[in-house]
Amino acid sequence: MSKVIKGGTIVTADRSWKADVLIEGEKIAEIGENLKGDETIDAEGAYVIPGGIDPHTHLEMPFMGTTAAETFESGTFAAAAGGTTMLVDFCLPGEDGSLLNAIDDWDRKSRDQICTDISYHMAITGWNESIFNEMEAVVKERGINTFKHFMAYKGALMVEDDEMFASFKRCAELGALPLVHAENGDIVQELQQKYLAEGITGPEGHAYSRPPEVEGEAANRAIMIADAAGTPLYIVHVSCEQAHEAIRRARQKGMRVYGEPLIQHLTLDETEYFDKDWQYAARRVMSPPFRSKDHQASLWAGLSSGSLQVVATDHAAFTDKQKQMGLDNFTTIPNGTGGLEERMAMLWTKGVETGRLTPEEFVAATSSNIAKILNIYPMKGGINVGGDADVVVWDPTISREIAVSTQKSIIDYNVFEGMTVTAQPRYTLSRGEVVWAYGQNSQPQPGRGKFVRRPAFASASQAVSKWKSLNTPRKIERNPLNIPSGV
Ligand code: URP
Ligand code: ZN
Ligand code: ZN
Ligand code: ZN
Repeated sequence: MSKVIKGGTIVTADRSWKADVLIEGEKIAEIGENLKGDETIDAEGAYVIPGGIDPHTHLEMPFMGTTAAETFESGTFAAAAGGTTMLVDFCLPGEDGSLLNAIDDWDRKSRDQICTDISYHMAITGWNESIFNEMEAVVKERGINTFKHFMAYKGALMVEDDEMFASFKRCAELGALPLVHAENGDIVQELQQKYLAEGITGPEGHAYSRPPEVEGEAANRAIMIADAAGTPLYIVHVSCEQAHEAIRRARQKGMRVYGEPLIQHLTLDETEYFDKDWQYAARRVMSPPFRSKDHQASLWAGLSSGSLQVVATDHAAFTDKQKQMGLDNFTTIPNGTGGLEERMAMLWTKGVETGRLTPEEFVAATSSNIAKILNIYPMKGGINVGGDADVVVWDPTISREIAVSTQKSIIDYNVFEGMTVTAQPRYTLSRGEVVWAYGQNSQPQPGRGKFVRRPAFASASQAVSKWKSLNTPRKIERNPLNIPSGV
C-alpha cells in the first residue's frame, strides 16, 4: 500500500517548495510532481513538514515523592495530535543504581503503550565503577548516545562537579553527548530555606529561590567542565539570558554547546506565580521557573539567530492533587508542567505568525536540529527519500482555542488554556501510518510505536575550543635547590 501526500508545500530546514510525497510502507519513496499512490492524503493549502521531535519528556517518571501522571500512551497520543512523532524520555536509575536495569524498567513501562516512536536519555545521578562500566553497554548495546546530569535537586538527583567531570570524560570516550540541567543546587537549597524561614511558603517562593543567576552559574560551570573533558554539551531548558549568554560565548569560541529553550519559557512569564491563586501558580511550578519578559526576548533572539537550536517541552505533568503535596511548602510541590501537544502550534503562533521565525527555522527548531544533534538524521527530522515517513500536513488555517476539554493529555488542566493557536496538524503520519487526522479524533494503536536506536558519534574530540590548554603535560626535571645555609 502506497500513499501520496498531494498538493502541499514541503517545508524543510533548508527550503520550501511545492511537491508531492510518495510513501511506500514506512519510508518516503519519492518526492516530485504529480505522484500517484494507492491512497491520497490531501495537503492542498497546507505545509508538509517533518514530524516534530520533542527531546525532553518525563512520562510516568518517579519524582519528588510521586510519579508523573502522563503515561506513555496518553503522552504519545497527545504528541501525535500536536504533530510530534517522536519523543525522547529521561530514564532514571532506580534504587539499585543500575543503568541497564533502569532501561529495562522504562522498556517495560513504554513498550505496549507507545503510539509513536521514542528514545531515551540515560540519567547519571551518581558515580562509581559499575556506572562507568555500564555506560558502554548503554551506548553500544542499547542505542542511547546521551547522558543527562542534574546540577540541581540536591540530595536526590544532583551530581557533584567531580562526578560530572568523570562522566563527561566517559561520554567523550564513548562518543556520547552529555546533557545538563543547569541550576546550582547548593544555592537553590540555601535560598529555599531562607524564603521558608521568612514565611514565604507559596509557589512564588519557588521562583524566588531559583533566580537566573543560579542557572547562569551552572551553565558556565558545565561548559567549562565539558571543555576540560573534551566533549560537546547540550543544556536543557535554557530559560534565561545568563545561561544563553554562556552558550553564545562558548559557541563563539568554537565549542559545540547546544541550548534548548522550552515552549513554556518562550510564552509564559513570571507573572504566572504572583497575584494568582495557589492552585493556578502551583500548576506552573517547574524548574527553572518562568522568567521576566526580558529573558523571554533573549530566548527568542537565540532561536532567530541560531545560538539556541531546539524547542522542547520538558513535559513532566502532575495532577492538581499531586501539586497539592506542596500546599504549605513550595519545595514539595512536584516540579513540572506539560506542553507536548501544544509545542508546535504555540511555536508557530508565537514564532512564525509574529515574524520571529521563518517556517524553515520552525522546522529546524522542532525537528531537524535535534535529529542531527541526536545522530538520527536523515532517518528522522527531514523529508528525505529513504527516511522514515514521519510527516505532518500542517494546516495554517485551523485556529483553535486550547482547552482541557479537547486535549489528549490526561492532566486536569493545561498551562496554555484559553490561548488561541493558529495552526494545527491536519494529518500526522508516523512511519507512513496516519496516527492523527484533525476532526476525527481516533487514537492510534498503543504499542505500535518503536524504540529508536541512536548510534554513538564518530568523533567527540572535535568539541574542544582552541582556548583549552594545549600544553601536553610533562614533568620538568630540575636540579635540587641550592639554598645557602643560615638563611
Ligand atoms: O520542573 C521540571 N523541569 N521537572 C522535570 C524534571 C526536570 O528538571 O527536568
Ligand atoms: Zn556542590
Ligand atoms: Zn531539568
Ligand atoms: Zn526535564
